[in-house]
Amino acid sequence: MTYLHGCRMLNTPVLIINTKNYLESSAERGIKLAKAAERVAKDLGVNIIICPPTPLLYYTARSVNIPVYAEHVDLAKVGSTTGFIVPELVKDMGATGSLINHSEHQLPVEVVQQTIERLRQIGLVAVVCAADHEKTKIFAKMNPDAIAVEPPELIGSGIAVSKARPEVITDSLNGIKSAGSRSKLICGAGIVAGEDVRKALELGAEGVLVASGIVKAADQEAKIREMAEQLR
Ligand code: G3P
Repeated sequence: MTYLHGCRMLNTPVLIINTKNYLESSAERGIKLAKAAERVAKDLGVNIIICPPTPLLYYTARSVNIPVYAEHVDLAKVGSTTGFIVPELVKDMGATGSLINHSEHQLPVEVVQQTIERLRQIGLVAVVCAADHEKTKIFAKMNPDAIAVEPPELIGSGIAVSKARPEVITDSLNGIKSAGSRSKLICGAGIVAGEDVRKALELGAEGVLVASGIVKAADQEAKIREMAEQLR
């Protein structure tokens, strides 16, 4: 088993798998999914990041040698903060980054800024989720490592942002540019096929953030492979 204390780098193009709290991502099923992602990443020589359910973070980081990110962190301090997800502990457990402000776990804008700073201070990658191009522009000024734009209405829909709402990606890229930001753009919501990934990259995204299309697939590894092949 390899315990990967990662470098603070988000390599792209990238497939980020957000396993959320689906039962298919829980316990041994979550480890099986992470190992499938690791196999595909190695076979194809591509970047895949896995975001396991929080209780599975340590076990996942111990089990695979691809980057493991938290799905969320809180601004709580180390010590007497029962139940909060503390960035320093996330790092200690082997994660090398975190999603922040997922549309299912939104934060006030000032908390997003503080969380980016906290992650930066301790050397973790920050991937901030944004609902649209206007939010993308606001977050771009904070220079997180990446912004993942995801129209909430397409999340879990099977209708890919890259096909149904391509302007979300192009407008977000313009927002990042006009903010003079170094942040990379990732997109997500409704991505279920390799073709959806290809289209996202063609539009200028540097990666995709995917949940149900992989987690709920009858053959998770085949689906990861289908999407990851587009990264080569
Ligand atoms: O974080 C990824 C996500 O919100 C997209 O979900 O199920 O549409 O891939 P899904």
